[in-house]
Amino acid sequence: MKIKDWLNKVYLYSKTNHYIYNECYIFLEFLLKKNRIWIEININYKLNFKIIEYLNIFLLRRLKGEPIAYILNCYYFLDIKYIIYQDIFIPRLGTEYMVIFSIKLIKKKKLTNILDLGSGSGVIACAISKNCINVNIFALDNNFLSLILIKINCLKLNIYNIHILKSNWFMNVKNKFNFFDLIISNPPYIWNKDNCINKNDLRFECENSLLSNHKGWGDIIYIIKSSYHYLNDKGWLIVEHSLINLNKIIYFFKKYYYNVFTYKGIHYNYRFTVGQKLL
Ligand SMILES: C[S@@+](CC[C@H](N)C(=O)[O-])C[C@H]1O[C@@H](n2cnc3c(N)ncnc32)[C@H](O)[C@@H]1O
Repeated sequence: MKIKDWLNKVYLYSKTNHYIYNECYIFLEFLLKKNRIWIEININYKLNFKIIEYLNIFLLRRLKGEPIAYILNCYYFLDIKYIIYQDIFIPRLGTEYMVIFSIKLIKKKKLTNILDLGSGSGVIACAISKNCINVNIFALDNNFLSLILIKINCLKLNIYNIHILKSNWFMNVKNKFNFFDLIISNPPYIWNKDNCINKNDLRFECENSLLSNHKGWGDIIYIIKSSYHYLNDKGWLIVEHSLINLNKIIYFFKKYYYNVFTYKGIHYNYRFTVGQKLL
């Protein structure tokens, strides 16, 4: 079967789903290790049996709605390629806004001791490590698989200044480390009754990464309150959140922090809040 024959077949399957037809080029690029232009020029290239088998499996999984990141086990975050596995949260474009903000802050204020709370695949910690010098980063998660993946991503990216820790939020942080200049977190913040968890990509994500009690604000408020005790004087907290519960989040931030600002992320929505520890 030639590339063009397989693409014609995809076209038939994806008549109501035009984006899937375009995404199939990503599968071709991935398996053939060639770029889009090569594929267009070599549209008569004969695919071998193994490649066709993989292409069909990828296509079927995608037609069922599975995210490409889980199908190909990779994801780009701030232009760096990371490995991603099922049961580990797929980093979102929106988080890049928060990380860019934090990198600017770290450089401007010369912050050194950083904690990435709920690190997932480690993209926040790794992006900071790659862009800031003389930083000491701790990446923490309660999912053991996530810790393995952070280690793998660090090794792949030649990162050696990230300390990985299994902990239920701050439970194992006590007495182990000094205080932090910056705590950054993209915690779970979806209410289990919110219908969005049964739709699109979210269906494939693990609940531990998404769901939080108290209508979705339980973990965030816990992090806002607890981080206070683990920050240096005037230390910074940055938390990603949704638009829902925004007033409650700002209320708690202002109880424990000053210089509190909420910033816009993806789609110009207010998506992350920053504050400095009150003395
Ligand atoms: C929304 S994901 C964010 C992952 C990553 N920071 C990112 O932005 O791609 C939330 C992460 O928090 C972790 N998590 C959930 N509950 C936790 C807890 N009680 N203690 C530590 N980590 C937790 C999950 O395993 C998941 O990796």
